[in-house]
Amino acid sequence: MKVLVATDKPFAAEAVSGIREVIEKAGYELALLEKYSTKQELLDAVASADAAIIRSDIFDKEVLEAGKNLKIVVRAGAGFDNIDLDAATANNICVMNTPGQNANAVAELAFGLVVYAIRNFYNGTSGTELLGKKLGIHAYGNVGRNVARVAKGFGMEVYAFDPFLSAEQIEKEGVKAVATVEELYSTCQYVSLHIPATAETKNSINYALLSRMPKNALLINTARKEVINEAEVVKLMEERKDFKYVTDIMPGNHAEMAEKFAGRYFSTPKKMGAQTAEANTNAGIAAANQIVDFIQNGNERFRVNKK
Ligand code: 3PG
Repeated sequence: MKVLVATDKPFAAEAVSGIREVIEKAGYELALLEKYSTKQELLDAVASADAAIIRSDIFDKEVLEAGKNLKIVVRAGAGFDNIDLDAATANNICVMNTPGQNANAVAELAFGLVVYAIRNFYNGTSGTELLGKKLGIHAYGNVGRNVARVAKGFGMEVYAFDPFLSAEQIEKEGVKAVATVEELYSTCQYVSLHIPATAETKNSINYALLSRMPKNALLINTARKEVINEAEVVKLMEERKDFKYVTDIMPGNHAEMAEKFAGRYFSTPKKMGAQTAEANTNAGIAAANQIVDFIQNGNERFRVNKK
């Protein structure tokens, strides 16, 4: 049984050791493909694998079909928009994620971005504080919950919108639930995005929504770049000099944003919300355990594609 770890953006070394331990203890073999520069390398590596652990690596139809022996692919992380779920189902491959395992890392990075932005990117000028300000969490899943926990530490008033949760489920955690997405944006000076990239959410963060935000607004995106309507963000930021945007996922129009909105826009060079030793270890080892449990016991608890 060969388990391929295919990570263009490698895990921390200690996470790889932890994964290896789980895989070898089960009597399986580990193959490691890191920082590959061509799709062909991935196609070659997947050809002999029975299982794969991946991150944001693209597992499209071609890659899944090249994995002739593949039985399971585990995305060590939350979002699985990088995997063609229909092609996986058609090829009898189970796809799972590891929900929650890297959530704290993303939440901590979101606040790193927030403090950086409101202290004017540490340029020495006078900034603002978070105490008593309103933070809106757009989608209250594992990352959203962690963001709420940290926000309370800063003394913020925390609001959340999540169409899949009841107000009671949100409010029992000391977070104010709002009934509509429009209300979240109208209420909160700070909005942190935690929605997945789906057909419904792509391009959904647009001019109409963002223009509702109060004065000195800050949008934080540690979710996916695809959810942003980039052209409309440009239009909004051209009109509203008080609006700032910070992100962990470089937009397609990064050069334009950096040039037009210097001092109000920042992107990390590479998605790094989940790029901590702890998150890599948690998600990587969870993925390895899920593979062993699937192969040995047929456990499909975290399956995300249809059978
Ligand atoms: C996720 O969906 O888990 C995060 O976006 C992290 O992605 P990464 O593993 O590519 O850093």
